[in-house]
Amino acid sequence: MKIDMIIVGVIAALSGLFALYSTFGIAGAIAGLAVIGIYALLLQVKLQKLEEKTFFQNIRFKVPIILVLAGILWVLAGKFNFPVWWQIEFVAFALVGFFFFTLLDWKTLKLEKSNFDWTIRILATYALASTIFIVVTAQLPQFDPEFELSKLNRPPVKLEGLAGPEVIAAGREVFENNKCFNCHKVFWEGNSDRGPNLGSKQIGLYPAAYIKDQILSPRRNQSPGFDDPKSKKAMPTYYGEDLSEDELIALVSYLKTMRDPTRMPIEGKFGQQWTWWDDKDIIAEGQQVFEGLHPQAEGLNCAVCHGKDGIPMMTGALDFRNADNTDTTKIEGDHTDKLLKDWPDALWYRRVTRGVPNTPMAPWGTIFPHLYLWKAEAYARTFHDPLEKRTAKRPVPAVPTKEEIEKWQTDGMFMDPLL
Ligand code: HEC
Ligand code: HEC
Repeated sequence: MKIDMIIVGVIAALSGLFALYSTFGIAGAIAGLAVIGIYALLLQVKLQKLEEKTFFQNIRFKVPIILVLAGILWVLAGKFNFPVWWQIEFVAFALVGFFFFTLLDWKTLKLEKSNFDWTIRILATYALASTIFIVVTAQLPQFDPEFELSKLNRPPVKLEGLAGPEVIAAGREVFENNKCFNCHKVFWEGNSDRGPNLGSKQIGLYPAAYIKDQILSPRRNQSPGFDDPKSKKAMPTYYGEDLSEDELIALVSYLKTMRDPTRMPIEGKFGQQWTWWDDKDIIAEGQQVFEGLHPQAEGLNCAVCHGKDGIPMMTGALDFRNADNTDTTKIEGDHTDKLLKDWPDALWYRRVTRGVPNTPMAPWGTIFPHLYLWKAEAYARTFHDPLEKRTAKRPVPAVPTKEEIEKWQTDGMFMDPLL
């Protein structure tokens, strides 16, 4: 063997090993070494005199290989979270390959007499294999977004805690009369910041049962950033006795309206606040949602299309790893041309709740509670802006003014029903 061939071969083998190692870790490197080892052994084997195999020998040799290969494809595809129909497709490809190679090794029927003969034969084999390929793949299930969406486990829309304007107005009165404003601001309104700003925190994202429990048993769950001894004991525990059942329902209805379609939820004490973009607990929970593992957001799974590692599983799905992606151009009158890293909170929220019409990116906000969608967004952002590489937290946005809040309503920025 020539020395330059050896050098090229060694370089190719080492790059292959490195690629396997960086993708699959040590197991990948070992598998690569094993393949090289087997190849080296095969090179040592003295070639037997070439003999044409019979059709039966040909099949007997290929069937076990194809079965093992199909099994490996099936398991690997499952391991990398490919949907089942992709697994079936991969295995089908392996079977098509089996037919193709069986055809190639078919016993020569007639001796070839000219170049023209073998050209025709190769072309015929190619055409036959392509036909098998097309016919088989056309029989496989195709991805149909409508059908996939209808399969999603839609939780029933709960109207509990949501009510007409009268109930909400009554709830606001209960809030005022019970001195809640003495400790809680609601966006710009209120007297002190002893407790969390229930507007910027977006307490309305939480389920009605959780809000009710926080009022009746305030010591059970501490609001994030309020776990100093003084704040722990600040919220009165007598509201269970003071409030009638109806007052409580109205109060919760009012609290459920505390949402902001333009900003990430904000936690903590005034002056030491942070947004969910930088909240590692929220991001960890967001990862569960993103990967379809969150028990409260069953059926929601961004990873099936956008990929568990941010590598899109579906062509066209946004690649979250690329900070320079611009937003979609498919929504008439709503294209900002902003780079992903500069997307305002409002754009994230709008896209994820409303989707991109006529694409598999569905309006998830009509099906799933927005509490979990915000969390999934906070996690999705870490693909191009990893938490551990951040040098500073995102600045906490200014509290919206009364005019701004009124504009959300007139501009129809809330979705109906509010999930
Ligand atoms: C004396 C001050 C004070 C008053 C009055 C008060 N709260 Fe609180 N509240 C707090 C503090 C401090 C916290 C944060 C610590 C905690 O979670 O217990 C809190 C927490 C809460 C939470 C939980 C927030 C979260 O992050 O989950 C809700 C909901 C709430 N208050 C609602 C109310 C309502 C409704 C009223 C009036 C009926 C009220 N509070 C009256 C001080 C107060
Ligand atoms: C069924 C597949 C599917 C699922 C599930 C899915 N997406 Fe998408 N998503 C897409 C596709 C396809 C696009 C590209 C749409 C287009 O053509 O502009 C997209 C686009 C996006 C965009 C960019 C919109 C824009 O303006 O360019 C965001 C943000 C996004 N998805 C977030 C999410 C989040 C967060 C989840 C989970 C809550 C999710 N997606 C679930 C398929 C999906």
